[in-house]
Amino acid sequence: MPSEKAGEGYRQAKDDRKGGRMREVLSWLLFWPTFWVGVVALGAICVLCLTFEQRAARWVRGAPEFSQTLVHSANFWVGLGALGTIFTLFFIYQQIAGARNVSAYQFLRELDDRFRSPEMRRRRSGLAKVLLTNPENYELVGQHGEEICGYFEDLGLLLRKGIAPKYLIWSMFDYRILRYWQLLSPYIRNYRVQKQDRTYYNDFEYLWKRIARFEKNILRRNNVDADRSDLDQFLHNELRVDLRRFRLSDLGRVMEIERSSFDVDAYSEDQFQELYNKDPGGFRVAEIANFVVGYIAATVLGEVGEIDSMAVHPDYRRLRIGRRLMEFALSYLGVQYPGLKLYRLQVRTNNLGAIRLYEQLGFRTTDTLKGYYRDHADAFEMEMLAGRPASAEPERQAPKGDLLPLPEQPKSTPPL
Ligand SMILES: CC(C)(COP(=O)(O)OP(=O)(O)OC[C@H]1O[C@@H](n2cnc3c(N)ncnc32)[C@H](O)[C@@H]1OP(=O)(O)O)[C@@H](O)C(=O)NCCC(=O)NCCS
Repeated sequence: MPSEKAGEGYRQAKDDRKGGRMREVLSWLLFWPTFWVGVVALGAICVLCLTFEQRAARWVRGAPEFSQTLVHSANFWVGLGALGTIFTLFFIYQQIAGARNVSAYQFLRELDDRFRSPEMRRRRSGLAKVLLTNPENYELVGQHGEEICGYFEDLGLLLRKGIAPKYLIWSMFDYRILRYWQLLSPYIRNYRVQKQDRTYYNDFEYLWKRIARFEKNILRRNNVDADRSDLDQFLHNELRVDLRRFRLSDLGRVMEIERSSFDVDAYSEDQFQELYNKDPGGFRVAEIANFVVGYIAATVLGEVGEIDSMAVHPDYRRLRIGRRLMEFALSYLGVQYPGLKLYRLQVRTNNLGAIRLYEQLGFRTTDTLKGYYRDHADAFEMEMLAGRPASAEPERQAPKGDLLPLPEQPKSTPPL
């Protein structure tokens, strides 16, 4: 059942749509001057034709008989008038079409900017996360997806009212329209059934139908739906996880993630500061729409690259964030310290998810460390030979002047 909040979102989307209608009316008013100029020009041509008939008759008095007949023939003047009308109408059409295309392009650019705005990016990330983890929880999909549906409603309205031509919409938005309809149509169908109203998101559906048909014709395909792996890739792109250097201001959030991920072995703030001071470049956070959701800290001990700690907030797990953090850390260590022989980490023997991730990346268990953790639980030591990764992911720099003070004392065993 869509929540009250979802209902509010839809009302908001409808209000936005009213704004769209106002602009639609304004744009039509702009076309009318062109139209009236055309009508006046037409009238002028007719008047000119009529008066010109008399004068021309005088001018061609001395001309050959054929010309004189032509000048006195009503059909000739009617034909000339018709030709003039056709040219004028064509001219008006060209002017209006040109003006409308420019105006449509401006509308669409605005809609594109709206799609890329930080606010929308946050919503897209939230929706992508829900669609990746809970696609059948329509209440959640509604909470995160109402704004996106409203967005495509606006686009559909521009198409339905003929304000933006199909080819322009197709060339700018085809991919996102097709993918989002494919992802959101089950929710929309469910919403219509719940509300017992088939008109909800009609413009979005209309938009999808027209663009899908256009795409099918252009690509000569029967089906424009993406397969599951393409959809997953699309959602991961929408999720937009950025990795960047840890900053002092992230410490509070990193501690939150730490406490929600580890029990007795959670690192203290001082331990994180120590890790950071050892190698600031090896301490990264993963963020979605400027919200930190995970971190990794890697340092070097002699010829060994150590993965000291890594965690992803429980709400953001199984979204490939842990894998990206690990890949980044290995890549970073490989590029930064070419002389490394090994990568090493320790993991609780019952932490099957993490062990699986490490094995997928190439780590192998080399030892079991009895009573390694504070609660005397055992750890596997896992290692991987250091090969130099092809390239490190480009890094986003932390602002200057954000360095942490050096710790006073060496700290205890890391929790990994
Ligand atoms: C371990 C951890 C960092 C993984 O992060 P994540 O973002 O959830 O992991 P990913 O989505 O990148 O998973 C990559 C692969 O690892 C494996 N994996 C990760 N978590 C898993 C789990 N709970 N169960 C089974 N497999 C798991 C899967 O094969 C997964 O690939 P798939 O989702 O395509 O099947 C996260 O679970 C975590 O923070 N755990 C608590 C803290 C912790 O244990 N840190 C590591 C200490 S050594």
